[in-house]
Amino acid sequence: MSNIAEKLDAYKSYFEGTLNGFFDGMSQNGAPEEPVFSAVRYSVENGGKRIRPILVYLGAEIAGGRKEDVKELAIAIELIHGYSLVHDDLPSMDNDTLRRNKPTTHVKFGEGMAVLTGDAMLNLAYESVLSKENITEKDVKALAYMAKRAGIYGMIGGQCIDIRDNEKKNMRFESLTELYELKTSMLIGAALVSGAIAVGAESGLVSALELYAKNVGIVFQIVDDILDITSTEEILGKNINSDKKLGKLTILDFVTLDEAKEYIEELGKEVRDALKPFGDSADELIELEKYLSSRKK
Ligand code: IPE
Ligand code: IPE
Ligand code: MG
Ligand code: MG
Ligand code: MG
Repeated sequence: MSNIAEKLDAYKSYFEGTLNGFFDGMSQNGAPEEPVFSAVRYSVENGGKRIRPILVYLGAEIAGGRKEDVKELAIAIELIHGYSLVHDDLPSMDNDTLRRNKPTTHVKFGEGMAVLTGDAMLNLAYESVLSKENITEKDVKALAYMAKRAGIYGMIGGQCIDIRDNEKKNMRFESLTELYELKTSMLIGAALVSGAIAVGAESGLVSALELYAKNVGIVFQIVDDILDITSTEEILGKNINSDKKLGKLTILDFVTLDEAKEYIEELGKEVRDALKPFGDSADELIELEKYLSSRKK
């Protein structure tokens, strides 16, 4: 296993531990398991690569902090990501039935309950940070950064364009990459940069991390679109050919697979250049970019 794969595994385990702790705390404080908490657990426990919480940790570390300083922000971003997937899979959006190798939340619990499960996850995201002991002004700043990029200026904005324009197939290549920036890069940036802001990152680092998130988010979505047609349901854990089923344009409607790979390489090079001033401290982020470019699930 490469260093980065080992590190991702270790961080994933750390994240799962803190998430379980958060849920245990809710139970101890009397949160009823039914009807919605169990669906929240179903939607967020035991699943996913946990890339966004790991980016929160890496953002804090490159800015001189520790993952322990930002564990609540990491829970928040994964809950936001998770809710976005629960809603993304709904019949009124992508109408998918398989996610993380399990039936999607609306298939398991019904559509109305899936809407409310997503809503509950979004609330819990903010609750996790705002109920942090000894919350600081930096934590609040970081959370405001996250909220903005998860919302109408970012992920939600992108998802709206995705359902309004993409289904009509009236997108140019530039609009498609702008859509990727909104629906995917913004949440990646919400993770990485909020982690850095929470421990007091200076503005030069914040700008470099924003460029990283922009490019890595586009790469992430291009790879997602490629895997949607080249992978299998067993490996991916979600429905394949979902984009085609919905008549969505993806990068592969504009360029060949080889050209898409060249584009990924160009975006990666820009990232490496932007991180050069930060020397060895950026090694893990650079390795992560390479890892995500060639991911298989
Ligand atoms: C899926 O994200 C949604 C996209 C932005 C393409 P991930 O591929 O990170 O999904 P999980 O969290 O690992 O299931
Ligand atoms: C991104 O796109 C999803 C979100 C931003 C929530 P997709 O719709 O392609 O994601 P998957 O393939 O369903 O995971
Ligand atoms: Mg979608
Ligand atoms: Mg989808
Ligand atoms: Mg997809």
